[in-house]
Amino acid sequence: MGLRVFLLLWALSLPVFAEQAGAGYTMRRVTDIFKPLSRPAEMIHESAVVVLVICAGIFIVVTGLLVFIVTKFRLRADDDGQEPPQIYGSTQIELAWTVIPILIIVVLIMVASRTIGEIQNMKMPENAIKVRVVGHQWWWEIHYPELGIVTANELHIPLSDRDPDKATPTHLVLQSADVIHSYWVPQLAGKTDAVPNRDNELWFDPYETGVYFGNCAEYCGTQHANMLIRVIVHTPENFQRWVADQKAPVPEPQTVDEIEGHRVFFANGCVSCHTVDGTVAEGVFGPDLTKLMTRQTLGAGVAPITDKNLWSWVKDPQVLKVGCLMPDMQLQDSEVDFIVAYLKTLK
Ligand code: CUA
Repeated sequence: MGLRVFLLLWALSLPVFAEQAGAGYTMRRVTDIFKPLSRPAEMIHESAVVVLVICAGIFIVVTGLLVFIVTKFRLRADDDGQEPPQIYGSTQIELAWTVIPILIIVVLIMVASRTIGEIQNMKMPENAIKVRVVGHQWWWEIHYPELGIVTANELHIPLSDRDPDKATPTHLVLQSADVIHSYWVPQLAGKTDAVPNRDNELWFDPYETGVYFGNCAEYCGTQHANMLIRVIVHTPENFQRWVADQKAPVPEPQTVDEIEGHRVFFANGCVSCHTVDGTVAEGVFGPDLTKLMTRQTLGAGVAPITDKNLWSWVKDPQVLKVGCLMPDMQLQDSEVDFIVAYLKTLK
């Protein structure tokens, strides 16, 4: 595909994505560490700037000296070909190039450890939203233990405030079901690993609504690059609406296709990996599908949820996401039609 065609297709896909965000929030798809919109990201940004300035100073001094020496002592036409005097064992020079770098590194260590300490020791207020995020190959399982909600890949949180009295931060506990993953939404907080048999913590308190993009930031296998993160930051009212919507029971299948789809879904082993609340589907190896249609994407961000993509995914997930752990279930096209009709009721 030519670059121009690709760019055109990409541009055309943007409004579709924006529409699926539902509430018309800004899509913050450029994951920019220089535009923090949450306190921990801001603290990291501040120390990154200090480190950058120190390193830029070193770069300028070293490069400047190098350019100066290369120019001043370049080979000239009247060079006599003699080797210049060789100097050994200058205590002054050796001390200078040992002590100064040590001091610089100590400063950098102090800057970094102060920021890490401040972020890790931050007291979470009572009203903080608690979330447990579990990394899987290659998707994110998301639990809100206090709200009784389970979802996947797309984290919904409320807007917070710079004023600590009004802040409603979100406190994440990161875990992993298999290998090491890393949860990173650059505009909201630092990169934090999700390690098997260990709880790591992370918090966000976003100042602006929007759909924030992030990635798994630790190589975790074939589809590491398609283990995408979306954080949807809602106004408090919209967040409450989202919570209520997630807790509302899923409507029963109505049409003939939906009912047949429901039957095929339960007859084909889908239930051993997926959960649909209120049914015998209680599998936990794959994403919870209870409110599938309220999400923007499938396959952890690999494609937007559309009829065509749902069909392709159910027919053979290996087409959209090669190597993913959901196998081709060898379904007939008609069975896929029915299952898609049923899946579309999950909202
Ligand atoms: Cu998960 Cu990389």
